Amino acid sequence: MKILSLYFSSTGNTEKIAKEIEKTARGLGHRVDALKTRRDIDVDLLYYDFIFMGSGVYRWLPGRPMLNFISRTLKKYAENGNIRPSAPRLAGKRGVIYCTYGGMHTGVNEAIPAVKYMGQLLDHLGIEIAGEWYIVGEYHLKKYQGLSTRGRLGNTVGRPNSDDLQRVAEMTRGILQI
Ligand SMILES: Cc1cc2nc3c(=O)[nH]c(=O)nc-3n(C[C@H](O)[C@H](O)[C@H](O)COP(=O)(O)O)c2cc1C
Repeated sequence: MKILSLYFSSTGNTEKIAKEIEKTARGLGHRVDALKTRRDIDVDLLYYDFIFMGSGVYRWLPGRPMLNFISRTLKKYAENGNIRPSAPRLAGKRGVIYCTYGGMHTGVNEAIPAVKYMGQLLDHLGIEIAGEWYIVGEYHLKKYQGLSTRGRLGNTVGRPNSDDLQRVAEMTRGILQI
């Protein structure tokens, strides 16, 4: 399959997940293009058979560069006539949406809007969402020190850790075999 791994990562947590996905998918013989969202990236999502799309969670939503990418890309496809009423499914095209999140205040509830928000881009294009993954990620910024041990998820220092990455590799293998 032609696979796109598109992600935004500010402090490196989501990047660890993206690299694990890329390595695992390549190991299975797939062709993988890995892209970190920047201000000017433009990619044809419809070219790919499978898309992994992920971001860290920032105030319940994906990071700003990912939000900007979604706005730009939605506009492009709307102008090209690819956003249609009822969002008809595109045969054989699927994706996984994932985030890394701290969950300090309300646990996974503050990550759900980010994943649902990103997913709507694929869903509007007719790409089936085959999975939604929520992966815990430590807060790295100095001014938030302490948040990684006192929140609703308990101690998240070092997350995503090697167990998290192993689970991501297993889920990647699983989902690509469907
Ligand atoms: C400025 C800032 C705001 C954050 N806001 C949230 C939030 O609202 N909810 C949450 O669950 N995690 C929040 N986090 C934690 C990050 O989502 C988490 O550390 C994530 O793994 C970062 O991913 P990244 O390093 O790939 O950008 C925040 C972290 C920072 C630094």
